[in-house]
Amino acid sequence: MKLILVVGARPNFMKIAPIWRVLETQGRAGEAVLVHTEQHYDDKMSRIFFDDLKLPKPHYALGVGSGSQAVQTAKVMMAFEPVVIEEKPDLVVVVGDVNSTVACAMVAAKLHVPVAHVEAGLRSRDKRMPEELNRLMTDVISDLLLTPSRDADENLKNEGISEDRIHFVGNVMIDSLRLLEGRADESPVLEQTGVAEGSYALVTLHRPSNVDDQKTLTDILSALDHIQKHVPMVWPIHPRTSKMVDQFGLRGIVQEMKNIHVIEPVGYLDALKLQKYAKLVLTDSAGLQEETTAFGVPCLTVRENTERPVTVSEGTSTLVGVLPERIISVAEQVLGGTYKKGRIPERWDGYAAQRIVAAFDTLGN
Ligand code: UD1
Repeated sequence: MKLILVVGARPNFMKIAPIWRVLETQGRAGEAVLVHTEQHYDDKMSRIFFDDLKLPKPHYALGVGSGSQAVQTAKVMMAFEPVVIEEKPDLVVVVGDVNSTVACAMVAAKLHVPVAHVEAGLRSRDKRMPEELNRLMTDVISDLLLTPSRDADENLKNEGISEDRIHFVGNVMIDSLRLLEGRADESPVLEQTGVAEGSYALVTLHRPSNVDDQKTLTDILSALDHIQKHVPMVWPIHPRTSKMVDQFGLRGIVQEMKNIHVIEPVGYLDALKLQKYAKLVLTDSAGLQEETTAFGVPCLTVRENTERPVTVSEGTSTLVGVLPERIISVAEQVLGGTYKKGRIPERWDGYAAQRIVAAFDTLGN
């Protein structure tokens, strides 16, 4: 069976790595062709993840880069089509919900190549998010829908997708987390940043709805300003956010918050360590919502909705929205020791990639 595994952007690498590893362990690495669209291309958004996750050099690097939603999606499609024609795979595997995911799924489906979608079925029901459109469109055209949680199965069934296409495999990101948390413990990032275990807050922000809107970004900064007076904060800043902080003239406000350490984006091992030992995490990242649940660390999710409801119903996440009063009041619960405890959802056990590869093998049976 020849497989194309697609990665494009930062949150894809830790989802493909465990699948690659299972194929390698089964002596089947020769069946897999790794394609990187290079939607993310900076070393700190891409290469460092290949190193940390021990992913091999991609067989194809498509050099797509940044662009508007349409331009980026179209460029991925144009660059990926000749690869599929050349390689004639039996299956194209896409993960997550970024523009590269839907673009490559569409190319494969139009060439009548079966598509497997890892992390299928998640829904925020907010079609203003590009990721929600990517999820909906990818699921409709995928042959194998590999879901991380039971709610995802329900969403797909409610959309009329037949049950034989749906496989509840669990959360593959947790495979990477469990495999590498030991190595992550050795990262010097806490000492380098000047914070101590269990006594700082980690911040990440990158959603366009939060950072591309001046009032929303200013509101979030005012919440951070309040919280940093009580607990030191570490903020690895996403390139999009850094650009918008400058564009809105907010750099001075950020620099004045003396208890916030703004650092460059971090690699996978540093990101795990920063989460695992944080007192709390404030984020709009989907990946961090899930990783904090796996670590049992309180997560204030700076969004109005989530496509990952188990992180709220079972895990350690709370949707705090973007208004300072609510963000501050939930942060105070954490700092005051009254915040909820979570549990780890079903099949977030480190073995999802094995189930995923087993599902690939059902194709054609
Ligand atoms: C993308 C995904 C989002 C994911 C996020 C993780 C889509 C629609 N969005 O958003 O789901 O959560 O990745 O980071 O696919 N840039 C760089 N260097 C890079 C990449 C980007 O400087 O290596 C800058 C560029 O100015 C670019 C901006 O960041 O315009 C946004 O990048 P883009 O890939 O469009 O979206 P993200 O916000 O990263």
